[in-house]
Amino acid sequence: MNSKTAKESFIVMTELVLPNDTNVFGNLMGGRLMYWMDIASALAAGKHCNSPVVTASVDNISFESSIKLGNVVHIEAKVTRAFNSSMEVHMKVWGEDTVQQYRYKSNEAYYTFVALDPNRRPKPVPQLIPETEEEQKLFEGALRRRQLRLILGGKMKPHDAAELKALFAGE
Ligand SMILES: CC(C)(COP(=O)(O)OP(=O)(O)OC[C@H]1O[C@@H](n2cnc3c(N)ncnc32)[C@H](O)[C@@H]1OP(=O)(O)O)[C@@H](O)C(=O)NCCC(=O)NCCS
Repeated sequence: MNSKTAKESFIVMTELVLPNDTNVFGNLMGGRLMYWMDIASALAAGKHCNSPVVTASVDNISFESSIKLGNVVHIEAKVTRAFNSSMEVHMKVWGEDTVQQYRYKSNEAYYTFVALDPNRRPKPVPQLIPETEEEQKLFEGALRRRQLRLILGGKMKPHDAAELKALFAGE
C-alpha cells in the first residue's frame, strides 16, 4: 500500500452560524460545532484511506472563544498519523466575521477514525508522510496521544505506554 502525504488529506469545511445553531447568548453551540468537526475530520480520514471510516474517539476539546450568530466557521482538518487501521486527525477551527473582516481562532482538536472493510472489520490504511515542520511535530506527538486515549479507553495498560511514560519521566 502506497504511503500518502499529510497534505493530501487536507480539507476545509465552511459553515454559516444560523439561529438554530446557537444558544441563548447567540453563540454557536458546542455540540453543533463538534458535529461539524466530526464530519470534517471524517472527510480528511476518508480522503487519506479511500475507505469508509467510523469515529473511534474524540479527545478533550476546550473552546477558546465563542463563534457568533451570523459568523462563518472554517474547520481545517488533516491526518497527523496513520497506525494500522486507525488515523488521528487534527483540526483547527476559526470563526470569521465577514462584515468586520476578521478571523479568530475558536479551538483545536484531535479525532480518531478507524477504516472498515465491507464486513465492517478494521482494515489497514496507508502510512502517512509528514512534510512540514508542523506536520512532523504532530506526527511525533500522535504516538503519545494514541497511548493516552487507549489507556483511557481501557485498551492499553499504562505499563506498555513507553513513549507516554518517557514524557512524564522527562526522559
Ligand atoms: C472503533 C472500532 C471500529 C474498533 O473496533 P475493535 O473491534 O475494538 O477493533 P480493535 O481493538 O482491533 O481496534 C481497531 C483500531 O481501533 C483503535 N481503537 C480502538 N479503540 C480506540 C479508542 N478508544 N481510541 C482510539 N482508537 C481506538 C485501535 O487502536 C485499533 O487501531 P490500529 O489498528 O491502528 O492499531 C469499534 O469499537 C467500533 O465500531 N466502534 C463504534 C464506532 C462508531 O459507531 N462511531 C460513531 C459514534 S457512535
